[in-house]
Amino acid sequence: MSSDTLANLSNEERRFEPPADLANEANVKAEAYDRADSDREAFWADAADRLDWGQKWDQVLDWSNPPFAKWFVGGTLNASVNCVDRHVDAGNGDKVAIHWVGEPDDDTRDITYAQLKDEVSKAANALTELGVKKGDRVAIYMPMIPEVVVAMLACARLGAPHTVVFGGFSADALASRITDCDAQVVITSDGGYRRGAASALKPAVDEAVEKTGDLVRHVLVVRRTGQDVAWDEGRDVWWHDAVDGASSDHEAEMHDSEHPLYVMYTSGTTGKPKGILHTTGGYLTGTSFTHWEVFDLKPETDVYWCTADVGWVTGHSYMVYGPLANGATQVMYEGTPEKGRWWQIVEDYKVTIFYTAPTAIRTFMKQGREIPDGYDMSSLRLLGSVGEPINPEAYVWYREVIGGDRCPVVDTWWQTETGQIMISPLPGVTAGKPGSAMKALPGISADVVDDDARSVGNGNGGYLVLKEPWPAMLRTLWGDDERFKDTYWSRWEGLYFAGDGAKLDDDGDIWLLGRVDDVMNVSGHRLSTTEIESALVSHPKVAEAAVVGAADETTGQAVCAFVILRDSAGDGGEDIVEELRKHVAKEIGAIAKPRQIMVVPELPKTRSGKIMRRLLKDVAENREVGDVTTLADSTVMDLIKEKESSAA
Ligand code: WTA
Repeated sequence: MSSDTLANLSNEERRFEPPADLANEANVKAEAYDRADSDREAFWADAADRLDWGQKWDQVLDWSNPPFAKWFVGGTLNASVNCVDRHVDAGNGDKVAIHWVGEPDDDTRDITYAQLKDEVSKAANALTELGVKKGDRVAIYMPMIPEVVVAMLACARLGAPHTVVFGGFSADALASRITDCDAQVVITSDGGYRRGAASALKPAVDEAVEKTGDLVRHVLVVRRTGQDVAWDEGRDVWWHDAVDGASSDHEAEMHDSEHPLYVMYTSGTTGKPKGILHTTGGYLTGTSFTHWEVFDLKPETDVYWCTADVGWVTGHSYMVYGPLANGATQVMYEGTPEKGRWWQIVEDYKVTIFYTAPTAIRTFMKQGREIPDGYDMSSLRLLGSVGEPINPEAYVWYREVIGGDRCPVVDTWWQTETGQIMISPLPGVTAGKPGSAMKALPGISADVVDDDARSVGNGNGGYLVLKEPWPAMLRTLWGDDERFKDTYWSRWEGLYFAGDGAKLDDDGDIWLLGRVDDVMNVSGHRLSTTEIESALVSHPKVAEAAVVGAADETTGQAVCAFVILRDSAGDGGEDIVEELRKHVAKEIGAIAKPRQIMVVPELPKTRSGKIMRRLLKDVAENREVGDVTTLADSTVMDLIKEKESSAA
């Protein structure tokens, strides 16, 4: 947490009661906690009943072989039918599903549920034509255009798990994901718009496909920017050729509740990203129910907007699957948060529910309230935050300036792995405290424990754990059951270890305190210190590297790297820092570029050779360096600090 210390947090006394009308009309009331406590499985079965099933399940939860859960065992459903067809069948075909706003001004499209159904059906037929069968994996590398939603739902319709790779990741990162899940088809576009300019995507796909040998049979390409692209006749297919002419009739098969829906790669504590596997019935139940519960969605009247990119889990759960399963009308925006543009969109589309990340809020705070004050945002009634701890000042600013002091703020804690929101206020029930995610949602069981898995009790800090399985939980890591058990379930018997530190206040409310492992959170994006370290040492001039996440006012954390150059590299030359930053961008993606790289003569290590990142963090955060007594060579920190002051 950037500027608020733990002590500050404990002194936070402000409380915000739910607005009375919202509380009266809330989708979920306080009794839900008791109902879920008295019969958790019945609670989730009710939530699953909100969906359309082909065949109903025989068993709500099979937890006979933990940590491998099965939810709604024996049930069948189709996620795509639940997200589109059933709304059309219910007579809501003319309702807008997506108000799409392109980055270039005036480039907008409104897509109804009926149109979405047709597009998804056509794309499913086109993918079948390209040889995609149930169970095949399809990689998606696209900008925020409606076709990305169509592509995901078409894959879901066929039962072909998608793996969406964020468009900001490099060709290398894309290649490793394609290879890991053995995807033979890639869907992309020529490019997308970023800050007013066309930016290419297809070349990265070409490079990635090249690296994967003969694996990829087809690349399906949406024309978005019209820029020139290299073309491989046998392999590349234009979306407008393959999809536009395809039939809009597509009979969807009902898939098993546990059929894989998608794989989403996320950073772990080792160099290799983890393929988080989500399946169908539980995931759709967990995301659609919590979307309706936490955002108090009234599908007839609300206009919902989640600003996340579809390449992250928030885009999957709370832009695609949750809202569409609920028949919501939502805004989807192609661009990045330019000064007044977001607020113009809120005003234009009369957005009522708005979900974004603290890093964006802090950026707007810095720009000043004059900008949002210039727009009419009186349509807003509820605000959400996700991705990193929200400091009380940002929370209060968000509430006052964006929410006109009338909208509750729901600070939602969850992870790629959890699939669904786990800890959050209920907007019609909870008196919110700025900076606290408050309590586990009904049907979710969380605790804060010490090293020996004992509950720390109110007023104390420790590790956040989840104690009971939940519907949208990850089922495993793609192709690696052992790593799944090791990473999340091995620390303490029967408890899911989230990797986050947390504190319970005197009322038992939860305050998230950031990661306790080697995962960093930069602008709400998860990055692994080890992954960036291996990218750095793959550069021929680098002998050793250590990376830490240092507190940053805007981005939460920032990547700071310390490198030792090889003798043969001399002093590395004048531009070494820029050269290394570019190298990281190439290996992983621009989001992983270190804010700061320091060339140092030594790294602080313990006698057993482990790098003491804690000390490097002290340097990166300009603090007095902490206890150095466990260092093998206690003078190392002096050398590093000397180096730092001569560079400054
Ligand atoms: C952090 C994003 C504090 C946390 C949905 C978690 C949060 C990681 C919050 C997951 C929050 C997410 N308060 N921290 N409301 N939400 N986090 O997988 O460290 O990209 O473990 O999922 O983000 O990041 P991921």
